Amino acid sequence: MFITFEGIDGAGKSTQVNKLKRSLQERGREVLTLREPGGTPVAEQIRELLLEGRHDISPVGELLLFSASRAELMEKVIVPALESGCDVILDRFFDSTTAYQGYGRGLNLDMLSEINRIASHGIRPDITFYLDLTPEDALMRKFSEKSLPLAFESEELDRMENSGLEFYQRVRSGYHAIQQAEPQRIVTIDALLSPAEIHRKIVARLDDFKAASGRKS
Ligand code: TYD
Repeated sequence: MFITFEGIDGAGKSTQVNKLKRSLQERGREVLTLREPGGTPVAEQIRELLLEGRHDISPVGELLLFSASRAELMEKVIVPALESGCDVILDRFFDSTTAYQGYGRGLNLDMLSEINRIASHGIRPDITFYLDLTPEDALMRKFSEKSLPLAFESEELDRMENSGLEFYQRVRSGYHAIQQAEPQRIVTIDALLSPAEIHRKIVARLDDFKAASGRKS
């Protein structure tokens, strides 16, 4: 199976990726977990450019860099893993591009969908878990122990995270639009639930999915 996780920064995706990995392994599945951007030597360098760099990057340049990282990861790692029967859990995929570069940066959605198709080699996730959180709650989480910065602008944030609160509001509304367009693939879960409760919902939805598609594992 090809399972992806989506949500704004701070929604708790990586915790859920790890919990799901463990529970699938306990059921005897071979599981590969990855995150975008990154995952091959070249894709990791692209990640550094996109996140650690402080240079301004044009919106189309940013789109193509995220897509280049994805194309690398698909061809070198994900396609071979899926072909060998492994389950792949991926932290962010093309829905991130639609939400961040499409709704967040305002790039044309038809152009995006074509680039997404090319970069992902036409492969779509079997199921996508979207952890829904307001940008305000995300900020509270990130800075809970410290004083709250005014709005997604701080030295401690990476280049994407420094895009401002309104950017994150557009990204979140983008995720809602994506979910409405593909309700059968995208499962929305309230990110404010406890990690254990979120994990239970994910496992239950996966079991329903497998039963409906006639999969045994
Ligand atoms: P990362 O450190 O992996 O954060 P997170 O824990 O939030 O996933 O950062 C990835 C950042 O890149 C995140 O801000 C979302 C952004 N992004 C895009 O803008 N477009 C994309 O296509 C992808 C994959 C990520």
